[in-house]
Amino acid sequence: MDCMKSMIASRTTNPVRGKVYLVGAGPGAPDLLTLRAAAILRRADIVFHDALVHQETLLLAQNAEKIAVGKRCGKLSTAQRFINKRLVDAARKHAVVVRLKGGDPMLFGRAQEEIEALQAAGINFEVVPGVTAALAASAGLGISLTQRGVSRNVAFVTARVGEGQTDHDWAASAVAADTALIYMGVGQARLIADTLMARGRSPATPVVVVENASLPGERRFALSLSDLPHVAGLGIKGPALIMLGEVFAAVQQTAGFADALPETAAVS
Ligand SMILES: C[S@@+](CC[C@H](N)C(=O)[O-])C[C@H]1O[C@@H](n2cnc3c(N)ncnc32)[C@H](O)[C@@H]1O
Repeated sequence: MDCMKSMIASRTTNPVRGKVYLVGAGPGAPDLLTLRAAAILRRADIVFHDALVHQETLLLAQNAEKIAVGKRCGKLSTAQRFINKRLVDAARKHAVVVRLKGGDPMLFGRAQEEIEALQAAGINFEVVPGVTAALAASAGLGISLTQRGVSRNVAFVTARVGEGQTDHDWAASAVAADTALIYMGVGQARLIADTLMARGRSPATPVVVVENASLPGERRFALSLSDLPHVAGLGIKGPALIMLGEVFAAVQQTAGFADALPETAAVS
């Protein structure tokens, strides 16, 4: 009887049964998923996924309920607070809960907020890394982000400031780093170019903008920093990165890239 009572008490005080996996889906191409991520998806009971996750990747979770919670500019998205709550609630009902995020979960993916919510609720979690967009873009370009004598450091940067956050000095690292990889920046290209040049980065700094890295619709544009505002005229609709630094000088010399540059961007 005592044993029964303690079982009931333990169920009431610790109703958590599942584990939440924060999984990196990679940059877009479904075959850039890790084997570990694929194995977890196959076991998943429920998957909360970003908008950019490839359909083929979702198909791996054949037995799971799939819920889109992604954020794409201009479309409705689920508030982060609500996503956190849904993860906690799901872990109380299901054994294997997956939060599937584009690229790597720990880069510009608000993973820390989800981790803190899970920790506060006493829920077990595990993070499975993924290929972040900038590494897929550098692979596609065939340009190493570090190079002897050219680049010995790399900064992952965003100029975007979330609602309710105070501005922080995003530009300092993008000016100081040999190679700067700017996420979520295309809509702010003019601000980024003006700020970096005002802070001392040369207008001639080579820039590559890569849209849809790793996907069949991948497009690349080689520019200089002073021309960066012209990306507004390139019809970029997919996710895109602004990458800058001397390592990308080689891209500007590569046949094919100049051709890809529409006239709107080919200004001095
Ligand atoms: C919210 S952040 C998420 C980044 C993600 N966690 C990662 O590690 O790649 C979204 C931004 O990542 C970049 N991005 C994601 N996928 C991309 C792709 N396939 N090609 C180019 N940029 C991409 C874009 O700058 C996009 O605005």
